[in-house]
Amino acid sequence: MTQYIIRGGKPLNGTVTISGAKNAAVAILPATLLVNGTCRIENVPDISDVHLLLEILDRMGAEIRRLSPNTLEISCVHVRDSEASDTLVRRIRASYYLIGAQLGRFGHARVALPGGCNFGARPIDQHIKGFEAIGADVTLSNGFVCATAPEEGLTGGRVNLDVVSVGATMNIMIGAVLANGTTIIENAAKEPHIVDLANFLNAMGAKVSGAGTDTIKVRGVRSLHGGSYSIIPDQIEAGTYMAAVAAVGGNVLIQNVIPKHMDCISAKLREMGAKVTEYDDAIRVQRTGILRRANVKTLPYPGFPTDMQPQIAVCMSLASGVSVITESIYDTRFGYCAELNRMGAAIKVETKVAVITGVEQLHGCTVHACDLRAGAAMVIAGLAADGTTVVEEIEYIERGYENIISKLEGLGASIKRVETPSRRSVHAAG
Ligand code: UD1
Repeated sequence: MTQYIIRGGKPLNGTVTISGAKNAAVAILPATLLVNGTCRIENVPDISDVHLLLEILDRMGAEIRRLSPNTLEISCVHVRDSEASDTLVRRIRASYYLIGAQLGRFGHARVALPGGCNFGARPIDQHIKGFEAIGADVTLSNGFVCATAPEEGLTGGRVNLDVVSVGATMNIMIGAVLANGTTIIENAAKEPHIVDLANFLNAMGAKVSGAGTDTIKVRGVRSLHGGSYSIIPDQIEAGTYMAAVAAVGGNVLIQNVIPKHMDCISAKLREMGAKVTEYDDAIRVQRTGILRRANVKTLPYPGFPTDMQPQIAVCMSLASGVSVITESIYDTRFGYCAELNRMGAAIKVETKVAVITGVEQLHGCTVHACDLRAGAAMVIAGLAADGTTVVEEIEYIERGYENIISKLEGLGASIKRVETPSRRSVHAAG
């Protein structure tokens, strides 16, 4: 069992550099299956979700060379027409991009239904609607998604998404890139990683336009060629460090960010009393005085991201007055509130609404990370709390945060990663 041990109460000061965007990387890596050449990809985050996808591609026959911790060369030219390992696929939500990628490359895909963080039902009906719009026959059976193109191949189509879905928007883009004719995705999601995927595909010869608006046009091309691409900085990692400074106090320069992507988070932290200064590719966050209450409603981009909801809840737990969070993307994403309450927070959850009464101090105790972003929130809470906080199930956190320990230590935090015998092996030894 691996844990983080945090001795809280020390303000954060210094400079931290943000890694490449996880949610862009986990779509771009499967999309390399479509490329008839070598892709050199820079700013790839060194996180376990990426390791898992690389292992899946490796087992399928991809040639992968790591040129530096964050630069990869991937050639899928000799990838076999084979299934992705279902045990690996089930461990990561983003493996759903393998459906679009295999369908586009081989004309058929059979991929285990994806796993990932559990925020309640996470259907993929909109992905399927998109694949059907470009001519695929899609069935679900025995925990697998099977998609098959007609004999004449996939053809461009028009799909109007019933819900704004990041995953469906990107998956349909991936599936449509090599189709005959033009695909139009309406009511598309607009997150920065959607634009990043489009830019990656275009760098390899695709013709995708409109990414970042709610209508995306994919003009099918015959093939994609190799090339170089650098992934954008991670909006949510940057936002997590911003929230950490706001909650804990201090003065931190957060480098390698695109400040425009942070607008909604910067505005909320300013409203709560933090000082946020934007530079060309960096943001400075300072917080010395008390935090003020605020309300947040999670929304698709450019609204407040659901992936920043647990982190801002920690800030609200330490703000004066009563704050309200309304979660509008997922049915259940407040599981972590019980953990924060064990640290002294005062949060009442009513289905999709959390009412947070600010307290003066959080107190260290043993908590667990119930998912990736909830885990990040536990770390922030531990840094702000008095005493010692032990965060368990940190594997979730390491799915999405590169070098979180050394980055926080660089800001003056006291945080250690320790391996302890698992409870099971303690019993076994006993
Ligand atoms: C992605 C991100 C996740 C983030 C989320 C919202 C990845 C790997 N994960 O998840 O970190 O929290 O976007 O920004 O990029 N929906 C349907 N049918 C579908 C697809 C989605 O009803 O076919 C619903 C979902 O249940 C949810 C909403 O649409 O209520 C948004 O989900 P979506 O944007 O697709 O999220 P993910 O791609 O799963």
